[in-house]
Amino acid sequence: RKVSLTGIKPTGEPHLGNYIGAILPALELADSYDSVYFIADHHALTTIRDRDLLRHYTRSVAATWLAAGLDPDRTTFYRQSDIPETFELAWVVSCVTGKGLMNRAHAYKAVRDRNREAGKDDLDAGVNMGLFNYPVLMAVDILLMDADVVPVGRDQLQHVEYAADIAGAFNAVYGEQFAFKIPTPIVPAEGTAHTMPGTDGRKMSKSYGNTIPLFAPEATLRKTIRRIPTDSVPVEAPKDPDSSSVFTLLEHFGTADVVADTRAALLAGGMGWGEVKARLTNALNHQFAPMREKYEALMAPGSELDDLLAHGAEKARKQSQPLLERVREAIGIR
Ligand code: TYM
Repeated sequence: RKVSLTGIKPTGEPHLGNYIGAILPALELADSYDSVYFIADHHALTTIRDRDLLRHYTRSVAATWLAAGLDPDRTTFYRQSDIPETFELAWVVSCVTGKGLMNRAHAYKAVRDRNREAGKDDLDAGVNMGLFNYPVLMAVDILLMDADVVPVGRDQLQHVEYAADIAGAFNAVYGEQFAFKIPTPIVPAEGTAHTMPGTDGRKMSKSYGNTIPLFAPEATLRKTIRRIPTDSVPVEAPKDPDSSSVFTLLEHFGTADVVADTRAALLAGGMGWGEVKARLTNALNHQFAPMREKYEALMAPGSELDDLLAHGAEKARKQSQPLLERVREAIGIR
């Protein structure tokens, strides 16, 4: 069977964007692929420097995967940090990766653009080597586990393409001895909200602080949704459904009936945004309340979470150790 692999970085509580962009598609693929899903805790180090927070977010991402339906018996499920082969292979592939490729990476370029706009002399101000090397480490996550497909949101597409480029670069040098499989990205289709908008209309992202967490308590959920900006058109007047993230989110999480009824009412006039927000809150509650219970049980100290991750790491290393051995052989180390 072919292998599907994806990871989530523990830099915040998992949110609706992670769910739509990665978790849901990944769980759907689990029926027809060998699935390998993990928590990219070393990737989080580029921004998270608080050890307790990193531990908390790591458990939170793990509990989210499980609460959302990941079956640990049928999936290889682990923490990146439990796979030491990752970090040796990262050095090896960085030695065949062009620096120019990294210079063109979106996340790195975005920081330089911000520095340029701010008039800074040093365009690399605030860039650590972890951020610069980020795509190399991500390529290794993918190549080490022999992934065929990588389900991700559109914001991660370039990174998966880089993994394919890096595999190609390695294969061009060492391919006679050992060749990596070339991975293919799977991204949500073009069209409404393949990228979930956040509470401020921009892409929902932990780094923008505009996320709707998947498993926030109901009161927090209600408050977060009430904060989403809307236009000030009076209740009676017709409104453009697409002028606020509220409706886009409802389109994803409401039933077809509720979505159609809401769209019609907004266009006709007579429905206020407060009502649309209430409908969105209900839809989210309806969908996520059962998972939230499971999530909370897993987050409790002494839950089976840590054992499951330890067991998953053992499974993953059955793949990563022999692969790294073959790479060492191919490059002349040992
Ligand atoms: P991360 O943790 O930022 O996001 C996890 C997944 O959620 C998707 N996503 C979204 N999809 C739709 N709408 C949004 N607003 C939205 N926000 C996030 C992301 O595209 C991603 O699929 N670098 C990765 C983690 C990683 C990884 C890997 C992924 C490390 N190694 C190997 C795949 C394979 C990241 O930071 O994702």
